[in-house]
Amino acid sequence: MRRKGAWLLVAALTSLTLLFVADVGAKEATPADDVFRSRILPIFRSKDPSSCTECHLAAVELKDYIRPTARDTFLSLRDQGLIDLEDPAQSRILELIRMKPPKPAPLPSVRRAEELAAFETWILEAARDPELRNAPPLEKKLARPKRPDAVIRHARKSRILGAFEELVWADRERCASCHRPGTKNAKWVKEFGERVTWIVPTDPAATMDLLVDHGLLNRKNPLKSLLLAKPTLQKKHEGGMKLVPGDETYERWRIWIEDWARTVSDGYKKEQDLPVARAEVSLLSDNFIKLVSPKSWKGNAVRLDIHAWDDAAGRWEDRRCAATTRVGGPKGAMARLYLYLVPGSERHRFALEKQSLPSGKFQARIYLDRKFKKGSGREPRFRKKPYHTVDLDLTWKMGIANRNVIATR
Ligand code: HEC
Ligand code: HEC
Repeated sequence: MRRKGAWLLVAALTSLTLLFVADVGAKEATPADDVFRSRILPIFRSKDPSSCTECHLAAVELKDYIRPTARDTFLSLRDQGLIDLEDPAQSRILELIRMKPPKPAPLPSVRRAEELAAFETWILEAARDPELRNAPPLEKKLARPKRPDAVIRHARKSRILGAFEELVWADRERCASCHRPGTKNAKWVKEFGERVTWIVPTDPAATMDLLVDHGLLNRKNPLKSLLLAKPTLQKKHEGGMKLVPGDETYERWRIWIEDWARTVSDGYKKEQDLPVARAEVSLLSDNFIKLVSPKSWKGNAVRLDIHAWDDAAGRWEDRRCAATTRVGGPKGAMARLYLYLVPGSERHRFALEKQSLPSGKFQARIYLDRKFKKGSGREPRFRKKPYHTVDLDLTWKMGIANRNVIATR
């Protein structure tokens, strides 16, 4: 019944469509041509997103594979190996349309079913036509997405979500006391409204969607995103100064927001545009530090780098293995360490399992920016040479109640 209704509707559109497919009009239209006109061309012309966009945020659309004529479309798909002439039902283009996430959403599911039925019917018909099967290769440019495969893979929603979990979600505790449902959050919600809640407990995907929906990410100007501007006091923030521009969390979030913004704007054109894999991964540990410092450091930007002892070389490692940046308080600062790890190294494996550095000999190097101004949005400027160093021989403690103390006075 539904099918019949659709056909009637489509018949009306078909007369319009014929204008666009003049070359078919000359010969007698085959059943495959009819299907193409009535069911494939509407997909080509539609402004609505195809089912592909349930997983691909940009860079590919089903209509990228369609040409205004049935013949060109078939040959273009055939020449790219997307049609299997021996077993048309198993054609690669149909496999792509059949792909669906574990929990598909209702609207894309309806589209997917329509697209699949249309392409299946058309390809099975067209693949029977000896004239099309045996036609020489298409001499025009093949119809395919403008972006290369590497960019298409990069622009997948699950890839962006994976990066979100690694870079943003992992650091949520820095904001969670006020921004995740709970007693303190309830008090703020009463005063400032539901918007204060932007962390969905145990659900990174929903949190990512919520950040987008609430307009906390700025696509055109990623550095102006409220997610960065509020906690650095570039915009008034009731929660106060929570991040120093350029600090460890800020950098991780900036990297993710910039990648997100460019991805959803279809801003990566070539494979070379894609971000390069980092030589170092960062991880928020459970190692808390209490830095005891002189009163005169209050309001200064303070960066603490930790360098491990290299036994084989008999000196401190050149690369820091942990760091944190804070604004100094009257007596010092409390902070959680970020670990910087070479992927696959023994320290990386240890850290992944324990959220901690292994015990050993370390040197704390402390850098100050004494002219730092809160809210200016400018990154602190640190001298190359540390302001102060402290040698440490320690077992790292875990958890906020159980911190290692580094005394500078
Ligand atoms: C369930 C999610 C999902 C849907 C829906 C989906 N894709 Fe993909 N697509 C993927 C994944 C995952 C990859 C990456 C595969 C890999 O890395 O090997 C991919 C990769 C691709 C590539 C790159 C080449 C390749 O094979 O890796 C193209 C082109 C592509 N998809 C086209 C499409 C088209 C066209 C549609 C819609 C008809 C679509 N996809 C629908 C998940 C999906
Ligand atoms: C001590 C409580 C507290 C902490 C911790 C806190 N905030 Fe806030 N934040 C607030 C309150 C209250 C508001 C609502 C009033 C306002 O906009 O200043 C707010 C508002 C915001 C908003 C605007 C939300 C909207 O939709 O209008 C953003 C974005 C934000 N905070 C980001 C952060 C980030 C990022 C962190 C952690 C790095 C953080 N906050 C930590 C209390 C806090």
